[in-house]
Amino acid sequence: MIVLDKEHKLFTLHTQNTTYQMKADAYGVLLHTYYGPRVRGGDLSCLLQYTDRSFSPNPNAAGTCRTYSLDVLPREYAASGGGDFRIPSLEVEGPDGSHTASLRFAEAQVRPGKYALEGLPAFFGTEAEADTLVITLEDAALQLQVELFYGVFEAHDLITRAVRVVNRGEGTVRLRQAASLCLDLPGGDWDLITFDGRHVMERCPSRAPLRPGVQSVGSVRGTSSHQHNPFAILCGRDAGEEHGLCYGAMLLYSGNFQAAAERSQFESSRLVLGIHPYHFCWTLDPGASFTTPEAALVCSSQGFGAMSRRFHRAIRSNLLRDPYGDRRKPVLVNSWEATYFDFDADKLVELAAASAPLGVELFVLDDGWFGARDSDSSGLGDWTVNERKLPGGLEALVTRIQALGMSFGLWVEPEMVNEDSELYRAHPDWALSVPGRGPSRGRAQLVLDFSRKEVRDHIYAALKRVLSSADVSYVKWDMNRSLTDVWSAALAPERQGEVYHRYVLGVYEMLERLRQDFPNLLIEGCSGGGGRFDGGMLYYTPQIWCSDNTDAVDRLRIQYGTSFGYPPCTMGAHVSATPNEQTGRTASLETRGAVAMSGTFGYEMDLGKSSPEERETIRKQVEFFKKHHHLLQTGDYYRLTSPFQEGPYTAWAHVSPDGREALVNLVTGSTHAALPFTSLRLQGLDPNLDYRVNGGKLWPGDVLLTAGYPIPLFLGDYQTFQLYLEAVDASSPAF
Ligand code: GLA
Repeated sequence: MIVLDKEHKLFTLHTQNTTYQMKADAYGVLLHTYYGPRVRGGDLSCLLQYTDRSFSPNPNAAGTCRTYSLDVLPREYAASGGGDFRIPSLEVEGPDGSHTASLRFAEAQVRPGKYALEGLPAFFGTEAEADTLVITLEDAALQLQVELFYGVFEAHDLITRAVRVVNRGEGTVRLRQAASLCLDLPGGDWDLITFDGRHVMERCPSRAPLRPGVQSVGSVRGTSSHQHNPFAILCGRDAGEEHGLCYGAMLLYSGNFQAAAERSQFESSRLVLGIHPYHFCWTLDPGASFTTPEAALVCSSQGFGAMSRRFHRAIRSNLLRDPYGDRRKPVLVNSWEATYFDFDADKLVELAAASAPLGVELFVLDDGWFGARDSDSSGLGDWTVNERKLPGGLEALVTRIQALGMSFGLWVEPEMVNEDSELYRAHPDWALSVPGRGPSRGRAQLVLDFSRKEVRDHIYAALKRVLSSADVSYVKWDMNRSLTDVWSAALAPERQGEVYHRYVLGVYEMLERLRQDFPNLLIEGCSGGGGRFDGGMLYYTPQIWCSDNTDAVDRLRIQYGTSFGYPPCTMGAHVSATPNEQTGRTASLETRGAVAMSGTFGYEMDLGKSSPEERETIRKQVEFFKKHHHLLQTGDYYRLTSPFQEGPYTAWAHVSPDGREALVNLVTGSTHAALPFTSLRLQGLDPNLDYRVNGGKLWPGDVLLTAGYPIPLFLGDYQTFQLYLEAVDASSPAF
């Protein structure tokens, strides 16, 4: 609900459990008065204090008043140069070379439903689900208009933000920084949690107290990156999984980003999230506008678990555009780790034939099917079927796969080109490179300049031909290197600071075209695994290959970290061969299955090499997944223990929204002799109901929530244990 008090220029956003408030003060400065647990409302600017602070300048409009300074007030969207020395949200270079803007309130408007952003990913919502507030600020001297968009999803406790900057003046201005979100909070005593890592070990949470000054993470790799995720949490020092105040901030963007937090001299804190200012400079000619990516905020006073579940629900219902909706997606087998580049049609059909009787429904042909692609150093860019490997093209192969009762999926990497390719030989200037310099290679490939329409059009036409040549129901859209040599032949020198962002817009445009032309196609995102796992990609690709690391034990950490912002149904996760190819670790099929099931679920191995016993286990595993998919896909997710903390096991649960059904998963760590007894305290159940556990005894919900369930002792490392709980209606004697 949005309460617009025009008279007092007071703007209050209420969600079910939170309140967010702004007020334009006597000078027209938009102040941020409150964001936290829901309060009744009223004018919360009474919380703000004013005093004379040395070295904190007073704006010209304040005259001789020394107690008013932008340097100390909580701001909603702070431009640089006006006496606020904290991290700015906006830095504008005026036609005269100045870097100062003074944004003052102009008007506010409420609109039913959720705003959309042209060409950019954004949460969507009907009038029943969301409302929009648009606050317009203006800089009179530059004649610059800044529109702040707020989307309020009351039931999800989610607030989205985006900003549009319009040049209404007669000169050209340049944006040096345009953040999506600025959040000023009182107090300096916060912890910052970021999600960091590397290729094959993405999104590990890292928590540290805010120190005085600026702390930031980000990406300048052209993608959101394996190294840092565009999602961060500010939380109280005492906040944990089930208690404490926390603020989650997510940027729906797949390119360079920065998440910067600052603890100021007077113990207030600021979080700024948006496109990274590195090599960003956007020219706005008279009349032109720039729209930032969207950011989304969730506040929870019941810890990280509740925060995550709010993001999960909102993402599932108002961000993903999944052709399957809540219907179960097919269980897939992917050819990559089974064959790498070494296959022909018979080998592929053999792989599929070994999988179909086990209940696997979708066969995905990974890399190696096109051009002269016999290794990773050639062929990218040539999106025509390699008829030497696949005589008769895709159609012949798909017919054989479908005859096994399976559907067919395909891997592509449209943004890339190998120098050893027909495409590169014909259009060497289509790859990003700086004139006079040889471009850096990554995995022996260069990056196509997707900021250019003719490049996108050419690649799109080739992809469309391939995807129309056979019945393809799934595509894995990969992207296997970071951007370097970022310079576009299509832009003037003073506009080269636009290339990174235009590249991302180009990727989004391609994905949108694909969605429009093939509305039933399920697209899985991928960038060397989880190098572009972000809310922006999720708008186009409702699932993303979580990591190239398929080791079940490492995946416990990767999927745990990923779950802080993103729901399990978005995490591409497969059972792969053991010993694992990335770590050499051995884990049981049951353990690998339980971990993969908490994502999209599938196999990434040659199932023909499995023993009869293993095949039976796999058949049962697939059956189990199909039976419980609704819980796994749409249940609420509870992190019961952390794989990063010393403990005998990692546990998590999927609980139906009504609390009547739950699937609890547990994987033990490396074992020791004479282990102590432990019980696992569950969450999300109804204390007043009794639950039948694994079809056997009845357990009272309140006991499971407080005392927990006793965990049997296991022999061996990395054992798994699954509990299926179902509430029974009549209260019968428990135990
Ligand atoms: C990337 C992906 C893998 C696989 C290979 C193919 O590394 O993450 O899953 O598709 O590319 O080259």
